Amino acid sequence: MRVLNGLQSSGNLHIGNYFGAIKPMMDLQQDSDMFMFIANYHALTSLKDAKALRENSVDAAVTFLSLGLDPNKSTFWLQSDVKEVLELYWILSAYTPMGLLERAHSYKDKVAKGISANHALFSYPVLMAADILLYDSQIVPVGKDQIQHVEMTRDIAIKFNNEHGEIFTIPEFRTDDSVATVPGIDGQKMSKSYGNDIAIFMDEKPLQKLCNKVVTDSTPMGEPLDFESCNVYALASLFLDDSGKLELADRYRSGNEGYGHFKKYLKELIWSEFAEARERRAYYQANPDIVQDILSDGAKKARAIASEKMKIIRDAVGIL
Ligand code: ADP
Ligand code: TRP
Repeated sequence: MRVLNGLQSSGNLHIGNYFGAIKPMMDLQQDSDMFMFIANYHALTSLKDAKALRENSVDAAVTFLSLGLDPNKSTFWLQSDVKEVLELYWILSAYTPMGLLERAHSYKDKVAKGISANHALFSYPVLMAADILLYDSQIVPVGKDQIQHVEMTRDIAIKFNNEHGEIFTIPEFRTDDSVATVPGIDGQKMSKSYGNDIAIFMDEKPLQKLCNKVVTDSTPMGEPLDFESCNVYALASLFLDDSGKLELADRYRSGNEGYGHFKKYLKELIWSEFAEARERRAYYQANPDIVQDILSDGAKKARAIASEKMKIIRDAVGIL
């Protein structure tokens, strides 16, 4: 079973990315043919600072390796190292009705949030379709906000196949229903673009400061707290099993503790969850050549598949 996922390199990865995309991916790695790349072309739609984009791409590679990506089990590369994807992007554009792109929520949301409406942002789902279809991906693990993009990929692939025969594998998305949308410190969906995120790798003090900023109600000390509506509880429960959640809910109900205690507890949960990953991160940061070699090996494997697939696609559409 071929599983494919792309992760954006625009900015520090946060715990919404971790629970929504990275952790499910790492779990899947054990028994699937996993393909994962850093979507630096996609990141270019919203990041126009060259130095930052370069650094973020390397940092994303280091981060995924730190968080458990195993290059012996998975194919891991930088999107821009396999140029075939841009050729397929163009070919698929010719099979993508304007109406399909005009309905994309993600584009409309990003423009509403003030990101400038350029063509790459608009045609972003076509590049994503190319990422997926180039490698005959069967499963695409996604957060809820990306489901529509996989549906668009299916629509484009079906339209193409109707004209040219069974060229593309029709992919399916997979969401992990146990992971709802992770809230940010203001209770809205956690997102880099909303500035409400908690990065996976932070120093301990700034992490505590950020946890202290998680918005809560103003129930005074000594009264029972409502865990169900509490952003601190929602975040902490991501790190807890069922009995841990029950225990925490009891502490909320007891009225013995205030939000300050739970914010400290939240910081401890985050800090210990990523302890091992921090060590691996320090290792890869100190050895950038090792990271580069891993990405080059991955690109070689990905390119071998991509170039064979492109021959079939070019032949189907009549590109000499
Ligand atoms: P951001 O919104 O911060 O820009 P991205 O769009 O780069 O995040 O998302 C990368 C991956 O992480 C996607 O699969 C996305 O669905 C997932 N993801 C991002 N934010 C969340 C969240 N708050 N909850 C669950 N998953 C998320
Ligand atoms: N759009 C995805 C995101 O924002 C990243 C991405 C690019 C991707 N290409 C992909 C995800 C292909 C899955 C498959 O998270």
